[in-house]
Amino acid sequence: MTNQEILLVNRPVGLPNPDDFEIKECEVPTVDDGYILIRTVYLSVDPYMRGRMTEARSYVAPFEIGKPLNGGMVGQVVESRSPDFQAGDYVAGQWAWRRYNVVKADKRVSKLNPNLAPPSTALGILGMTGLTAYLGLTKIGNPQPGETVVVSGAAGAVGSVVGQIAKLLGCRVVGIAGTKEKLAYIKDELGFDEAIDYKDRENLHKNIRAACPNGVDVYFDNVGGSISEAVIYAMNDFARIPLCGQIAHYNDTKPAQISINVFHTFVTRRIRMQGFIVSDFVESFGEAHAALAKWYQAGKIRQKETIIEGFENTPEAFIGLFHGENIGKLLVRVPDEV
Ligand SMILES: NC(=O)c1ccc[n+]([C@@H]2O[C@H](COP(=O)([O-])OP(=O)(O)OC[C@H]3O[C@@H](n4cnc5c(N)ncnc54)[C@H](OP(=O)(O)O)[C@@H]3O)[C@@H](O)[C@H]2O)c1
Repeated sequence: MTNQEILLVNRPVGLPNPDDFEIKECEVPTVDDGYILIRTVYLSVDPYMRGRMTEARSYVAPFEIGKPLNGGMVGQVVESRSPDFQAGDYVAGQWAWRRYNVVKADKRVSKLNPNLAPPSTALGILGMTGLTAYLGLTKIGNPQPGETVVVSGAAGAVGSVVGQIAKLLGCRVVGIAGTKEKLAYIKDELGFDEAIDYKDRENLHKNIRAACPNGVDVYFDNVGGSISEAVIYAMNDFARIPLCGQIAHYNDTKPAQISINVFHTFVTRRIRMQGFIVSDFVESFGEAHAALAKWYQAGKIRQKETIIEGFENTPEAFIGLFHGENIGKLLVRVPDEV
């Protein structure tokens, strides 16, 4: 059995480059008592990983140079020396970017039931990004029936779930995304009320106002920058902003400019904005997962997956997030070839 791992070899400056990563052969460790050997089936690539590629202080430790990256993964157990797992079980967890990992069979390994949902959903709609959508929207956004919810990054892993949940809660939902195909996806397939192309910069303010005739009550922000500024000017008194991410700025090499008038709008409209990390709500993961799984099984929420084939293509897949190459959740699938 041959193993491979993907290392971070440079801290990227600006947009990451394939040369910032290196793929190399490595050992498959022996499987001791209490451990399992897992073959990687899906790797999740996520925008937050860009932050871990820098040395900046954050809520999670930076990736180390010369060491494998790690992230959310789904795998299949090849060999088990634990009574809790059997060969063939599908499992999810946070492991190194390797074709094979040997890990302790503890509560950090979740066993998946492929009869309830495809294993890949554990990295998207029923995994970390689904939880982020549910918890950020309900705990911070607190949307009420009849209110208007706007979400940026609307066709992506988090945004596409935010919009569908807001619809289920009785809101008017407006999504902002970057291609015609994405706008059609959120409106025609996911049932958003309106979809706005942020690349039509000239008409952005006008289009937001037209799509939100009663103003904006909740803005779920995945993106930041000039898109957020345009939404904020359309917000109502006592509106809420769950600040989930700022992907428009993750590759900035100098500080972004923001209009000081935005802060004045926060005062005059008494807008509340709160940044959050999904793990802040760990006590509510059970509640959130149960709600998402119920809606998913009833066919009330769904999500496309953009699947890149091949372990060796993981760095390019990750970089693709910043070019908007995905609709729904972006995953890498590793065929069983080694
Ligand atoms: N706080 C938390 O705990 C937490 C957890 C998960 C994710 N997040 C954040 O949530 C956001 C979405 O994450 P995700 O996993 O769902 O990713 P995603 O939306 O599936 O993928 C990223 C999308 O961002 C858009 N994008 C990229 N560069 C952009 C730019 N310069 N301006 C505007 N849009 C841009 C692209 O779509 P377009 O084609 O529409 O541009 C791209 O498809 C990210 O900011 C991420 O960091 C936060």
